[in-house]
Amino acid sequence: MRDITHISSVDEDSSGQKIRMAGWIQDVRNLGGIAFIIMREREGVFQVTAIKKNDPELFEKIVNVPRESVTTVDGTVQENEEVINGFELIAESFELISEAGTPLPLGVIDKVGADLDTRLNNRFLDLRKEKVLALFKLRDIMERAMRGFFTGNGFLEVHTPKIVAAGAEGGATLFPLKYFDSEAYLAQSPQLYKQILMSAGFERVYEIAPAYRAEASDTVRHIAEFISVDAEMSFIESSEDVMDLCERLVYHVLKAIEEEGSPSLELWPVDLVLPKLPLRRVTHEECVGYLSGLGKGTDPEGGMDTEGEKLVGKWIQEEHGEDFYFITEFPTSVVGKTFYAMRKADDPELTGYFDLGCRGLEIVSGGQREHRYDVLTKQMEENDLDFEEFEFYLKAFRYGMPPHGGFGLGAERLLQTVLDIKNIRECVLFPRDRARLVP
Ligand code: 4AD
Repeated sequence: MRDITHISSVDEDSSGQKIRMAGWIQDVRNLGGIAFIIMREREGVFQVTAIKKNDPELFEKIVNVPRESVTTVDGTVQENEEVINGFELIAESFELISEAGTPLPLGVIDKVGADLDTRLNNRFLDLRKEKVLALFKLRDIMERAMRGFFTGNGFLEVHTPKIVAAGAEGGATLFPLKYFDSEAYLAQSPQLYKQILMSAGFERVYEIAPAYRAEASDTVRHIAEFISVDAEMSFIESSEDVMDLCERLVYHVLKAIEEEGSPSLELWPVDLVLPKLPLRRVTHEECVGYLSGLGKGTDPEGGMDTEGEKLVGKWIQEEHGEDFYFITEFPTSVVGKTFYAMRKADDPELTGYFDLGCRGLEIVSGGQREHRYDVLTKQMEENDLDFEEFEFYLKAFRYGMPPHGGFGLGAERLLQTVLDIKNIRECVLFPRDRARLVP
């Protein structure tokens, strides 16, 4: 490794010391006799100062390096309160390691923002932006907090196959693929496998992994590849146990972002209000009743459409000043294709299924699963599912299956809503959608 000093290692004791720093030349301000070069590294930006009379040749070279080239600079640290980080590096020599072409297809520090498509087409440059990097640092905090939460609550991290023979969430959004001499699919969710693990006695599992959906519509909340945060646990009494776990997870994540998010959060100034637990529970019936009163937001199956979901989020914010809420007791007719959802014992028209919403965006869905073989197969029959195709799954229910439940949380959706981002694609390094397969 080259001996390189990062910003955080420079302090008062560094003053007068000779060090080497490395990074991308972000901007050059040449004042004639002195030039201020703003360089960027993974911890942020720092200033290199070149003084012409010290070394005219070096001065000429460094001020003419194209922006975004990678260089190392050797120099002496000088304290300077006027400068970002409180120090500048007085250049003594530098090495141009990789020269950037000109013009840049996307400006890294341009004040005028490029449209999202241009940004995503040139993502390698877009990701050089401090604010964009900050988002992925916050995402890292979020995912680490999730792992910490699950480990702390006795969950085992697992990895289930992403090449599968059967879909769990309905055929329409399956991506088929050629698998040797047969047809397979990309997994829409680890659903069936995490249930099988309940029969194996793992009792509490979680998985943070990609899930694939061939979504028909192009929206700001759907992508074809997202990270699904899935949990499943056994010996629950009702969906309420699952909601309890889910809200504690979300709270834990928000707290971690609040506590560890600085300085990235300074670039994402959001109103992070920690919700009070337990979160508000509104039944699906109450939501549909409210929307019917407005005369909009419902769909022909008795559910809510996207506008309805947004209106419910707004309603809860206006009535109670709360961002997060559960929509509970989804009707059997609405849950529909979710054949594995347990129906209420006293009212088979209802399930214990829930969604966790935040300001009108669905973040999580989950609930208690049907663990009784005879009831499960009946529900599968209603959905015209081919038993043979699901035999690998059904088998696990014939030899001892505890009551269980769990949820799936869209990692990008949670980040999107916490940072108040319009388009979910911003939360993914290299998003996939109907129109985008590269970069
Ligand atoms: O509501 P979904 O389809 O539920 C399941 O996958 C169940 N197996 C979960 C369970 O354990 N019962 O997906 C779960 C979450 C959604 O709430 C949403 O946040 C996210 O996954 N999600 C998507 N995020 C981005 N783009 C898409 N196309 C998404 N589809 C689902």
